[in-house]
Amino acid sequence: MATLSYKIHTVESVKSTNSTVKALAKDGAPEGYVLTASMQTNGRGRLNRVFFSPKGTGLYVSILLRPECRLAPYALTCMSAVALADTVRTFGIDCGIKWVNDLYVDNRKTAGILVESALNQDGSFLYAVVGIGVNLFPPEEGFPEPIANKAAALFSCAPDEEVRKLFLKRLLLRFKRYYEQLPDITFFDAYRDRLIGIGSRVLVSEPDGMRYGTSIGIDRDFQLLVRFDDGTEAALDRGDVTLL
Ligand code: BTN
Repeated sequence: MATLSYKIHTVESVKSTNSTVKALAKDGAPEGYVLTASMQTNGRGRLNRVFFSPKGTGLYVSILLRPECRLAPYALTCMSAVALADTVRTFGIDCGIKWVNDLYVDNRKTAGILVESALNQDGSFLYAVVGIGVNLFPPEEGFPEPIANKAAALFSCAPDEEVRKLFLKRLLLRFKRYYEQLPDITFFDAYRDRLIGIGSRVLVSEPDGMRYGTSIGIDRDFQLLVRFDDGTEAALDRGDVTLL
């Protein structure tokens, strides 16, 4: 992949950095456009969920890409998850990835990734927007229901702008390293090794219902391999998986 050069833009408040960058992508903004915001009023997650984005305590960033090669649908999500996990570890914090896009510390979600892309008719990328949200510091009012018992911040100190800047710098550097090596998925082993819950009982929610099973691994397209209780196996490329 070509060299990725960043141009970083920072705003106080935005509905969703992903929505803004998607609109700019449609207007022809170049690869490497990065938008960060102190808060989001409509931060979005996967499966139409809300991403709690209060002022000053999180990192909310979106990166515009125009990949020149074909990629498995989850490749950019998993690449971002590894870059994020690598970054968290540079701060001495152990973390794991829950398939497909969540970062966990001590069994609590601390960060999530939302990749939104548009393809040309021939299947090549028009653009991809990688959105990353990290709970850096504890919000003053705490995490709201229903995530109060599921979410956590990476650091327990008061919001510190220097830490936020350093985190972003390290994240963008690691992201760039992996991205420039695509279509080689050099992060595959790291992603697989950091996955939590392989071998665990899972509840899989799909559009047509819910099923219990056991997660048994991932394939090279980052699909989650599940053996259902009826003995059938599937490679999941969508849906929500709860670790039991
Ligand atoms: C998830 O938890 O399912 C993914 C959360 C992704 C949140 C980030 S914050 C920056 C970017 N803008 C958004 O609206 N969402 C992503």
